[in-house]
Amino acid sequence: MTQPRYHPASIFFHWLVVALLIAAFAVIELKGQFPKGSEPRELCKTIHGLLGQIIFVVMVVRLITRWAFGTPHPINPNQTLTALAKLAHYLLYLLLLMLPIMGFIFLQAGGKEVHFLNWVWPQWISLNPELKKLFKEAHEWLGNALYFLIGLHALAALWHHYILKDETLRRMLNKIKPSEFIKSQSR
Ligand code: HEM
Ligand code: HEM
Repeated sequence: MTQPRYHPASIFFHWLVVALLIAAFAVIELKGQFPKGSEPRELCKTIHGLLGQIIFVVMVVRLITRWAFGTPHPINPNQTLTALAKLAHYLLYLLLLMLPIMGFIFLQAGGKEVHFLNWVWPQWISLNPELKKLFKEAHEWLGNALYFLIGLHALAALWHHYILKDETLRRMLNKIKPSEFIKSQSR
C-alpha cells in the first residue's frame, strides 16, 4: 500500500529503534572496558541482550504498522537509487530481526540462560559448542556490518536533505511542509 507520507506510528518506531540501537551498541562496546568474568562486563551483556529483545519486538510491531498503514512513494525519480534505497531498507529489517534470534541461539547453545528482566526463557536449544561458535561469530560479524549499513543509510538521508534538498528526511521527521505534501501527493 503506497501513501503520500509516513504514518506517525512508523515515524515514531523508526526513531525509537534508532535510540534503542545506539544504546545496544554503546553498552556492548562498553563491555570491552571491563575484565573478563567481572560483574560490570556481565551486566553490559545482560543489558545488551535485553535491548536486543526489545528491538526485535519493536521491529515486529513496526512491520505490522508498515503493512497496515503503507509507505510513501519514492521521491527520487532515479530508479536505480530507489532500488538501492529499498534494498538497504529490507536489509536493515532483515538484520534487526536476525541479530536478536542469533544472540538468543548462541547464548542457549553455549549453555547460558536468556533473561527478559526477571523472566527466564525456556531452554529450547541444547548445549552445542559448535553451534554456539557459529552463531556467535555470525552475530558479531553481522552486528558490525550493521554499523556500516546504518552509516550509509544515514549519509544517504543527509545527502537527500543537504545536497538534493528534497523532503526525504523531513517526511521521516514529520516536518513535511503543506506545499510539499500536495506536491508529493500529485506525483
Ligand atoms: C538488533 C539487535 C542486536 C544487535 C544490533 C546486536 C549487535 C551486537 C554487536 C555489534 C556485538 C559485538 C560484536 C563484537 O564484539 O565485535 C554483540 C555482541 C553480543 N550480543 Fe548482540 N546484538 C543484538 C541482539 C542481541 C540479543 C537479543 C542478544 C541476547 C539475547 C545478544 C547477545 C550478545 C552477546 C552476549 C554479545 C557479546 C558476545 C561476547 O563477546 O561474549 N545480542 N551484539
Ligand atoms: C540507527 C539505525 C537506523 C535504522 C535501523 C533505520 C532504518 C530505516 C528503515 C528500515 C527505513 C525504511 C522505512 C520503511 O519504508 O518502512 C528507514 C527510512 C528512513 N530513514 Fe532510517 N534508520 C536508521 C537511522 C537513520 C538516521 C540516523 C537517519 C537520518 C540521518 C535516517 C533517516 C531515514 C529517512 C529519511 C528514511 C525515509 C527514506 C525514504 O522515505 O525513502 N535513518 N530507516
